[in-house]
Amino acid sequence: MEVIQLHPEIAAEIRGVSMADVAGNDDVYRAVRAAFEAHSVLVFRNQPTNDGDHIDQIQVGYSAKFGPLETAKVASLGEGTPFSILTNIDPVTRGLVPPTHKEALRAKANQLWHTDSSFRQTPALASVLSARIIPGVGGETEFVSQRATWNRLPESLRAKLANSYAWHSYAHSRGKIAPELASQREQNALPPALWRMRWRNPVNGRDSLYIASHTYAIEGMPDNEAQTLIDELTAIATAPGHAYEHVWRNGDVVMWDNRASMHRGRPWPLDKPRHMIRTTIAATDADGVAELRPPSMPRKTA
Ligand code: OGA
Ligand code: MN
Repeated sequence: MEVIQLHPEIAAEIRGVSMADVAGNDDVYRAVRAAFEAHSVLVFRNQPTNDGDHIDQIQVGYSAKFGPLETAKVASLGEGTPFSILTNIDPVTRGLVPPTHKEALRAKANQLWHTDSSFRQTPALASVLSARIIPGVGGETEFVSQRATWNRLPESLRAKLANSYAWHSYAHSRGKIAPELASQREQNALPPALWRMRWRNPVNGRDSLYIASHTYAIEGMPDNEAQTLIDELTAIATAPGHAYEHVWRNGDVVMWDNRASMHRGRPWPLDKPRHMIRTTIAATDADGVAELRPPSMPRKTA
């Protein structure tokens, strides 16, 4: 197995082993897991992504080695299955959706810098995204290292954030695109979640800044101050030169560590199809979740 670094701060390409090898062999899994802990983004090329059922099976088998799989959220394509579908192809008509369509607006929301599932009651360890149809122009995915971000922050701010807790909400990030994008049913199913703003990796002790487009408030801080700080932290994280831009090719599958990175999709011409399928691995205490949870806090009284 070869591990080829793709950017000074984040991402490596894995060569010499396939995702099916990882699914079927514990030694290969351990080597790839070590590369994942070290590099936060792993790129696999030339996987059988044109063979629908086969790649679905490989993707689930691969992902399940890393931990329990999430099921796709309510009111999403793939709801209740391990597959989150990101597409601008209408599942019924097979035509391309118009720019006002829910799936097109969701694609826009994915173009905000974020980490997956920080709004869930169990956050995500990792996401595995396979390109099934690529538009040929645009539609790249960018990644920044939140370990590198953490290391760029002044020591005094790190000390403060290490013991600060931020609120994450799906409705908040969707609301930035369209006020009604998260339906009442989605809001009921996805109440806000509160997480420590520093995620310490239990394997290597490396710290990262845990924020996302979903972050809307910080415990004990006035809302306007918190919003300003979240915006400043996002700007530091995503300053020019820090992102690895993944230009998708047929056969690509990319995995990322949601504890230690942020990502965003890039726009593409909506008259071109783009169809991506994601599996997501929930984080467990072994991945550092216990420390992320707030110490029991006094209940807010009305
Ligand atoms: C995701 C995501 C961006 C993209 O799959 O979680 O944010 O480029 N994708 O499709
Ligand atoms: Mn995402």
